[in-house]
Amino acid sequence: MEFLVEDKKLNSIKADVEVIFIVNQNLEHKWVDKKDKDLFEMCKFKAKDEESIYLIEKNRVYVAIKEINHESLRIASSIAIKKIKATTNKSVKIGLYQDENCAVRNIKAMVEGMILGSYKFENYKKEPEKNEIEKIIFSTEDYSNLKQDKEKLLDAISRGEIVANCVNFARDIVNTPPKMMTPKKLAKKAKDMAEELNLEAVIHDDSFLKEQGMGAFLAVSRASSERPRLIHLTYKAENPKLKLALVGKGLTYDSGGLSLKPSDYMATMKADKSGAVATLAIMKAVASMKLPIELDIVIGACENMIGGNAYKPDDVLTAKNGKTIEVKNTDAEGRLVLADCLCYAQELKPDFIFDMATLTGACIVALGEYTFGVMGHNKELKNEMIDASNRAGELSAELPFNKYLPKLIKSQIADVCNISSSRYGGAITAGLFLSEFIDEEYKDKWLHLDIAGPSFVEKEWDYNPFGASGAGIRSVIKWIETKCREK
Ligand code: BES
Ligand code: ZN
Ligand code: ZN
Repeated sequence: MEFLVEDKKLNSIKADVEVIFIVNQNLEHKWVDKKDKDLFEMCKFKAKDEESIYLIEKNRVYVAIKEINHESLRIASSIAIKKIKATTNKSVKIGLYQDENCAVRNIKAMVEGMILGSYKFENYKKEPEKNEIEKIIFSTEDYSNLKQDKEKLLDAISRGEIVANCVNFARDIVNTPPKMMTPKKLAKKAKDMAEELNLEAVIHDDSFLKEQGMGAFLAVSRASSERPRLIHLTYKAENPKLKLALVGKGLTYDSGGLSLKPSDYMATMKADKSGAVATLAIMKAVASMKLPIELDIVIGACENMIGGNAYKPDDVLTAKNGKTIEVKNTDAEGRLVLADCLCYAQELKPDFIFDMATLTGACIVALGEYTFGVMGHNKELKNEMIDASNRAGELSAELPFNKYLPKLIKSQIADVCNISSSRYGGAITAGLFLSEFIDEEYKDKWLHLDIAGPSFVEKEWDYNPFGASGAGIRSVIKWIETKCREK
């Protein structure tokens, strides 16, 4: 899909289909054709609550929105594009819905909504549905600052395209079945991406993990015939304003290990690599947009399987920083992999370190399927991330640490236990487990993002189709963009 801006009235632009958003049930707007109102009545179209109608003979799609803001436009654009995608129409025209000088942000949101909403994972279908839409033309009618803003509009389109395409890039990888997306294949994907974007790439295997004393990561990987990989990519802008390290949980499959998951819970665990893949996608976006930062991404990629050599409940492991871990449940494996990867990433001496992981079912219980959890010791940093996610069109919420919960991961025989002694607060105790592997000087510079809830969509919502969603990617990109602007 190509996005164009034409300095013409909507009516004078040539396109196969016209998209019109009806704002707050206002049917008197000049773009609403008077003759269509009878059809609305016949179809019981009230122009309420994200309702939409496709008048095929008129080549016109109407979508209702309550008010104009970036998220309502993202959603409405995705609704419109999905309807049009089901036809053979090739070109679409649409207005620029501006709210108080925010057209630039709005056009970016519309582009994102169209690219994200039209995504479907069909790599394994014999006859994939074709997306025949070739171009989307934005009319600048009613846009008063066009002369001074044209460049900004084009730039916003291009940033919207980059961000949304990176999210879809992540969705493709996460949706790929575990047989096809092993740690080795994921490393190859990362390497190919690095080559394309001129990034430094280092891929480590078992021998490095042994050398580095990464006993926790190694234990999780041990029973799988697919060997683990530690993937490390680096991007350096010329004059970086900050240095960020992102650590991703890359379980290309999580069977639970000897604490085996029941089948119902095991299915979808190909998506246990979502955190890792999110860091890859963020890297792709940051490097494509040439954002002025230094970014390291560190991915712990492996499979959690069963076998004669599997790690066991009762084992005691030693992580890279020398801390010992009592294993009581092999299904709490993500935190073990991350423990070693967080130690590795701190040695890179970043200004900030964030980890992204589908870490706990408890986070889904706590926040629901639409919201990711934000944890850490620095209130301001957590607020920055939550604020960034709101502005990016994602939902996140803080899960607060407190002084009582750390007691729940105490072990009688080792420095820490990999599960909590209580059934409650599991997302937070998992976060506190990770905190055990964060050095004192990094406590205030670290965030843990538990994306278990929104990372895999079982029932599509808004511009999130079935399957991998790419959760967390847009939020972290937005945080980086904001931080760069402040510096
Ligand atoms: N990968 C899972 C968490 C998860 C669950 C992600 C559902 C997405 C959807 C993680 O490794 C896990 O199994 N966690 C356990 C921890 C428990 C054993 C303390 C869980 O959440 O049940
Ligand atoms: Zn698990
Ligand atoms: Zn897992």
